[in-house]
Amino acid sequence: MGLNADNVRVVLEKPLGTDLASSQQINNDVGSFFKEEQIYRIDHYLGKESLQNVLALRFANVMFEPMWNNKYIKSVQLTIAEQLGVEERGEFYDITGALRDMVQNHLMQMLCMTAMEPPKSLDADDVRDEKVKVIKSLKPLTIESVNENVVRGQYTEARDMKGYLQELNIPAESFTETYVAIKAEIDNERWQGVPFYLRTGKRMADKVAEIVLNFRDLDSHIFPGSQPFANRLVIELQPFDSVRLCVQVKTPGTGNNVEVTPMTIDLDKQLTGRRPEAYERLLLDVINGNLALFNRRDELEAAWEYVMPILDNWAKNTQAPHGYAAHSWGRKQRVNYWRVTAINGTKSSSIV
Ligand code: BG6
Repeated sequence: MGLNADNVRVVLEKPLGTDLASSQQINNDVGSFFKEEQIYRIDHYLGKESLQNVLALRFANVMFEPMWNNKYIKSVQLTIAEQLGVEERGEFYDITGALRDMVQNHLMQMLCMTAMEPPKSLDADDVRDEKVKVIKSLKPLTIESVNENVVRGQYTEARDMKGYLQELNIPAESFTETYVAIKAEIDNERWQGVPFYLRTGKRMADKVAEIVLNFRDLDSHIFPGSQPFANRLVIELQPFDSVRLCVQVKTPGTGNNVEVTPMTIDLDKQLTGRRPEAYERLLLDVINGNLALFNRRDELEAAWEYVMPILDNWAKNTQAPHGYAAHSWGRKQRVNYWRVTAINGTKSSSIV
């Protein structure tokens, strides 16, 4: 008794709930003891310097924001590929799956930071108000439209690597997804008609998390060797923290050929300040009472609402997830969701 005062904070780690109803229940229960301003819901992706940098890039420079819309951008890819499998977490993972583990939270936050409108200020509620608007503007999926817009996959045995079904504590017939790809659309003036591809997978060929903006093409190409859709902005969150703008430049020599070359900012090497680990930053913010990098209740629940038709579809769907070989980039499936190719020696998803 008497332990709860205004300066008391409660920290909650994702995933909060297993669906919308259970998440609301947790929020109601916690909310009956603590005010919203006392509740710090962690999504460690928000603690990553590289993700926070998206807002700086967008709103502290004059050149990106005017092009950050459907007039110039053709598609956006948000990718978190991991080399790790489920490791020792089979019991947890099998009732969770990639949608609850990565999409409802981490990918959704990457989407918000990429797509939000400029906030009035960097104050917690100004930023969170804009993020909620993005999630609420997502074109809702229906149980039927999930079949067209969502792919679920599961890694299979390859060489000396176990498949998901052979991992510790995984039931032999499990349908739990270790890979998800979603074609999402945002129904607002800025993003109308631009597909956002959200993809995440375990046991992929490499570890990479990135946001790729694929720009539209020029009306005509006067330079030989010019590549269609050559311009893209790649914001790499990991394993390296970098920003690459791919542009076409003249190939040296007497001809007029052009080739795609990245203008790269290597944030790890070029900036000298220490980059705190995600959890280090977040825990420090809890101590300092800064809520900007934490999920607000409405944001969390809107994200659950968006993924619910996917969970409902999968609960009824008797088709097993598509298999992909462990440590591969998967296989081409429907709208090319699965493929990631090399561009100038650095990885970048090739789908446009
Ligand atoms: C966690 C998931 O939230 O994020 C793990 O539960 C996943 O399954 C991890 O491996 C990925 O985090 P990061 O920072 O390594 O991309």
